[in-house]
Amino acid sequence: MEAAGSRQGRSVRVGNRELFVGNAGVNYPRQGMEVAPLFDPVTGLYSDLQGLEGVYDSLFHLNLDVDPKERPLLVCEPSCNTDEIREKVVALLFEKYEVPAVFIAKDAVLSTFASARSTATVVDCGHGQTTVSSVLDGFLLRGSVVRTPLAGSLLSDAVGAAVAAKGAAVKSRFEFKRIHDPTGGFTVQDLDLDGVTESFKAFQRRAVLSDIKEAVCGRVSDTPLRAEDLGGMPGLSYELPDGQEVELHGERSAIPELLFNPDIAAAIPGFSPPKAFSGEPLAAVPHSVKGAIQKVDVDHQKDMYANVVLVGGTSVMQGMRDRLEIALSELAPITTHGGMRVRVAVPTAGVERRFSTWIGGSILSSLGTFQQMWMSRQEYQEHGAALIHKRAP
Ligand SMILES: Nc1ncnc2c1ncn2[C@@H]1O[C@H](COP(=O)(O)OP(=O)(O)OP(=O)(O)O)[C@@H](O)[C@H]1O
Ligand SMILES: [Mg+2]
Repeated sequence: MEAAGSRQGRSVRVGNRELFVGNAGVNYPRQGMEVAPLFDPVTGLYSDLQGLEGVYDSLFHLNLDVDPKERPLLVCEPSCNTDEIREKVVALLFEKYEVPAVFIAKDAVLSTFASARSTATVVDCGHGQTTVSSVLDGFLLRGSVVRTPLAGSLLSDAVGAAVAAKGAAVKSRFEFKRIHDPTGGFTVQDLDLDGVTESFKAFQRRAVLSDIKEAVCGRVSDTPLRAEDLGGMPGLSYELPDGQEVELHGERSAIPELLFNPDIAAAIPGFSPPKAFSGEPLAAVPHSVKGAIQKVDVDHQKDMYANVVLVGGTSVMQGMRDRLEIALSELAPITTHGGMRVRVAVPTAGVERRFSTWIGGSILSSLGTFQQMWMSRQEYQEHGAALIHKRAP
């Protein structure tokens, strides 16, 4: 394993690529360094398996400093993962890292365990997507998964449009330096970023937009908003890294409202939302939840409505749980026995919402009954990677 040392984070080498992984890797401008996601934004699937290898290399050798040959490895995968990709991951882990045993769990299943349930409708409101997954008795119902781009990245894009419409140009902290004067003020001098890639600059500017979103747009309205409700909203200002001030008013409420009513986009200057991944117009998050539950056998739908679990970084916004519960209660079908009872649960601490998959993984791997579920290296050698589908359906 080759690991180059540097003050701002170390790199690993995979094939002919030098890869910097994680915050220490990506938050420093390096000549020619492109910033790229591991996942395809539309399919949500790993699109860069070499990059994934870079993550494993960094994790084992730079972050944890463990020998992967010595420990069984529980990995999680997105609900929509394909059999082909999970076989490649299993082969990689056994062939390259020679781990003694592997188990792959769906992230929604782990979030279900983290909520002390075995049955749940998991609404994971993340960055690139919101994924709704039905988990029944500890197993993901694969056919029920619904994904929508109504998530954090889309909200940050809306912030970008609103800020641009006010005439402010967002610069990240890597694009200038502040020259302080004796009066306590400062002027800004642009830095020469020759050789720094556009993808790095765009990534860092998007980080500023996400910070604005989290600082001034972090509250979802209790009740549905219409464009005409936005006029009287109090403003809140945000100081950009280079000292410019931007003040957002109605946009502060309109942007989170996009999750519940994508048509409110018309009230955000310069913002046109993307289409759904299917190419159809965007449906609000509660409609996606209802859509996912409708794909579950009718006998289980009552449990699915009563056990909605909300997780993911974007779910940290204030008011999300209450609003989702209200909106879903209005959408839930009326049965011969009356209305469906809708209950949305969230882990109380925001940090638990962001790391529910990890928490569920630690619960699963400490269960005595889990120990017989591992797929061992010997089994891999005898049966090949496809055995994982039997072990971890
Ligand atoms: N306090 C907050 N208010 C609003 N948004 C937040 C807050 N904290 C985090 N976020 C947003 O949550 C998102 C990250 O969430 P998460 O870590 O669940 O995403 P991810 O798992 O990386 O993405 P995905 O699941 O879509 O692949 C970012 O868009 C971030 O801006
Ligand atoms: Mg996620």
